Amino acid sequence: MNKKFLKEFKKLGEGGWYHSIDFGDGDVTKVKEKDPFRGIDRWNYFKEYLPNLQDKRIIDIGCNTGIFSFQAIRDGASYVLGLDSSKLAIQQALFATKVFSDNEKVEYSKKVDFKCLDVSKTSLIKFGKFDIAFLFSVIYCLKKRKAKEMLRELRQMVDVVAVQARDSHESGLNYPEDIKKALIETGFSDISLFEFYLPNGKMYTKPLIIAK
Ligand SMILES: C[S@@+](CC[C@H](N)C(=O)[O-])C[C@H]1O[C@@H](n2cnc3c(N)ncnc32)[C@H](O)[C@@H]1O
Repeated sequence: MNKKFLKEFKKLGEGGWYHSIDFGDGDVTKVKEKDPFRGIDRWNYFKEYLPNLQDKRIIDIGCNTGIFSFQAIRDGASYVLGLDSSKLAIQQALFATKVFSDNEKVEYSKKVDFKCLDVSKTSLIKFGKFDIAFLFSVIYCLKKRKAKEMLRELRQMVDVVAVQARDSHESGLNYPEDIKKALIETGFSDISLFEFYLPNGKMYTKPLIIAK
């Protein structure tokens, strides 16, 4: 990456990053957990199942560093609002906005906004209408009741939600069947589940649900 960003890159990475991001010139984030799906590989698995992103407005809930927000713009979306309750993640996303703008000569600051916000404490309605909501690996971070309240609001705000489920006994909305039930209860009707096999032949434990 451009030398002018290196000091900030080092400082923001002291505690590690959630996502693996290649900022160019060998400057790759150090991730806390090794997982190929903590990077753009996941997008490449999901992409064909996502709705058409061309000229779409997207709200990316639990965006963390925003890697999927930027990728949505690269794949044709017109605008992404990324929300995350982690102050550090939002600082990293804002940093990525500067570096990607510099690397790609794209004015990302006109196409993406990142806000630090706890979605279980704030209504999302004030952000207006979007075409698509990304809920990648985040719905199970919320208490069930809060997750349903959020889905109910999203039903009024977006046409489509893309939700990642997971195979876990922890509390919250985890399993695809529970998420599907919550989606129906909150007004979504056309629901599809997509499961993925990893290169080692094992099933990826976080399938994708698309609901309209
Ligand atoms: C498991 S990470 C997933 C990040 C990214 N969406 C992905 O799929 O790689 C969950 C993210 O959701 C954020 N998060 C958890 N609870 C949240 C809440 N109540 N409001 C906003 N963000 C939240 C976390 O800070 C974290 O960045």
